[in-house]
Amino acid sequence: MAKLWGGRFSKNTNELVDAFNASIDFDKRLYNEDIRGSIAHAKMLAKCGIIPVEDGEKIVAGLKDILADIEAGNFSFEVALEDIHMNVEARLTERIGQAGARLHTARSRNDQVALDMHMYMKREVAEIAELLINFEKALLTVAKKHDKTLMPGYTHLQRAQPITFAHHLLAYFNMLQRDFRRLLGVWEGADMMPLGAGAIAGTTFPIDRHDVAAQLNFGKVYCNSMDAVSDRDYVIEFLSFASMLMMHMSRLSEEICLWSSTEFGFIELDDAFATGSSMMPQKKNPDIAELVRGKTGRVYGHLQAMLVTAKGLPLTYNKDLQEDKEGFFDAVDTIKFSLAVYRDMILTMTVNVDKMQQAVSKDFSNATDLADYLVRKGLPFRQAHEVVGKCVAYAILNDKFLPEISLEEYKEFSELFESDLLEALKPYNCVAARKSYGGPAFTENEKQFAIGDEVIAAQEKTLAELQANL
Ligand code: ARG
Repeated sequence: MAKLWGGRFSKNTNELVDAFNASIDFDKRLYNEDIRGSIAHAKMLAKCGIIPVEDGEKIVAGLKDILADIEAGNFSFEVALEDIHMNVEARLTERIGQAGARLHTARSRNDQVALDMHMYMKREVAEIAELLINFEKALLTVAKKHDKTLMPGYTHLQRAQPITFAHHLLAYFNMLQRDFRRLLGVWEGADMMPLGAGAIAGTTFPIDRHDVAAQLNFGKVYCNSMDAVSDRDYVIEFLSFASMLMMHMSRLSEEICLWSSTEFGFIELDDAFATGSSMMPQKKNPDIAELVRGKTGRVYGHLQAMLVTAKGLPLTYNKDLQEDKEGFFDAVDTIKFSLAVYRDMILTMTVNVDKMQQAVSKDFSNATDLADYLVRKGLPFRQAHEVVGKCVAYAILNDKFLPEISLEEYKEFSELFESDLLEALKPYNCVAARKSYGGPAFTENEKQFAIGDEVIAAQEKTLAELQANL
């Protein structure tokens, strides 16, 4: 097949080179953006008197036909035509003749691919924002249902202090809010229009880059042609956002795995969100959580790969940059899948309230509260810590928990203990008393729920703005 750049060559490309060089297998994903970008470019060329108006019209109509064909599955992508840009352009000229051959005036594939990637990323950012909001909503819904569900909070994976399941889930809700903020940062980088930078140094034609930007709803235009064609910061920013999001989901996954084990028994996943074993009939495995945890490594890998790819590149475009796509696309698919499946998995899981309550009753997670009790009676905290430490050791020795020790026994450790200590030890009271700002107290959670609703409403408003600018 004749190459669109074949003029100075006297031989056909080696077959292996064709196969190695081609990106069509994966960049065909950009067909919609490539065509919409070309339509905007052609309209601008006609408006600026760079190509005849009739040619502009023919190009636009021809491109719309190609778009329809691709969407109907009637388009065969050719490896010999390398990438999506040349597949579309060659087909256009084949169909409309001369006019098609004018489309690439004042443009290079270097700024074209950059435009496609920016447009595609904006679309994915908007879709991911919606999935992220839906996942946040799911966490908030389950948290609200479990505002009174007591459970042990852990440090070092050892029971530490009583909390509520709501408080635990709200921690993840807060992480996701930061992910949302980072996603908006990704949008900022993507919402910049590179077309018109040409191969590297702009063009001699009187183009109007701001017109193209306005047609395609871009907020900004790259103001340096060399930066425009070589910038991949926005891809790295996306992968860094994706890595952080996966890290948060992976931490939750680890907890889901722990909580659904017989040892914890805190939750049970819905049958539709778990899998069995081919050999062991009793098994119900949290594969989804494990896969999200596992896929996190792969997304980190894409970030690392892109950072390394970019680090040694002289300005401006180098073919290495074609490597920006597969990892990015894979990260997009991975996080979209993870967010969607997690939302429903969280909404359908059964929370074993009794199991959690039991775990927080038969343990020493109320020890800090006993120390705080002594502090309120006047003892300096360090001494109170020491006294309660001795009480704990005594309880362990006698195979008891703190509420099971008698007042007489407590008096041996400190005269300050009185009968009201039992109230201080009740997990419900321990939680209720932790009213410090951001603490797990029920009253604090109520405030967090209200803030959460406001956050979601604001995010939904932002999402509508993004969608209006695709
Ligand atoms: N397929 C290429 C990419 O994805 C398009 C740009 C190619 N430009 C060039 N001069 N070879 O990066």
